[in-house]
Amino acid sequence: MTELKKHFAVIGNPIHHSLSPQIHSAFAKEAGLHIDYKALLSPLDEFKNTIHQLIAQKLSGANVTLPFKKEAYELASQHSSHSRIAEAVNTLEFKGDQIIGHNTDGIGLVRDLEQNLNVDLKRKKILLIGAGGAAEGVIYSILEKEPSELTLTNRTIEKSHVIRNKMDVHAKSFNVNLNVIEMAKLPDQYFDIIINATSAGLNNAEFDLNHKVFHEGSLAYDMMYGKETSFIREAQSQGSKTSDGLGMLVEQAAEAFFIWHHIKPKTKSVIESLRAL
Ligand code: ATR
Repeated sequence: MTELKKHFAVIGNPIHHSLSPQIHSAFAKEAGLHIDYKALLSPLDEFKNTIHQLIAQKLSGANVTLPFKKEAYELASQHSSHSRIAEAVNTLEFKGDQIIGHNTDGIGLVRDLEQNLNVDLKRKKILLIGAGGAAEGVIYSILEKEPSELTLTNRTIEKSHVIRNKMDVHAKSFNVNLNVIEMAKLPDQYFDIIINATSAGLNNAEFDLNHKVFHEGSLAYDMMYGKETSFIREAQSQGSKTSDGLGMLVEQAAEAFFIWHHIKPKTKSVIESLRAL
């Protein structure tokens, strides 16, 4: 008997740029699964209705992207620990009446760093720039890897303090020194990994970061993908290694795929083929 085709979607606004349908279709092909995965634009004030319509249409799960990750968190009836701590959901599972919320962004980032870029996070010094949803979504996964230090900075520094206060208990439990330093006061100290979680590159906006934070041997990681940002250019000019966030995108999708299908997909060939585009 052939298995019924399962249906999935990624929901966002805008959504036309999403690579998720391509990524999940590639994973499914490799795994021999027949799935349907589409990109769906939700009106900004209709997210909840969109989800309920999808459940009525017997969707098995959905990915959620900007700007709906907080709303997805509020909509979920159960939460994974990562999504509860981030208060944001990027992966939904629909099981009977239950809407289960997960957040695979942090796992995606850490896997890209450790498995694809061969950078071990343990006992490293990490600088995380940004204090929006993208930054908040990855902090717990970084702390879990027990770096020696995680420094938070942001243009609006009060937001970094709010996150620090919220995450302090977790930092202590993993023995991580969690700091906040104003962007303008970042010292000329060595960070092993500098992560850009701001949306500055998205709008080609002015990004006021002292180039002295970049050093030879550091890795500058921009969670954005698909275009070269001034963050990456500046890091390269100072001799740092660099990476965009394409690998993170594929790895967060792989974790969502695992949640839905209980199969760990191979990611390297998918990353390579997307990079070649
Ligand atoms: P996301 O969900 O992508 O994180 P967000 O919640 O709107 O989006 O957060 C955007 C982040 O990018 C914030 O940290 C923002 O800084 P502020 O908190 O000061 O607004 C940061 N950001 C956006 N444009 C920036 C710029 N030109 N320079 C520096 N930081 C910028």
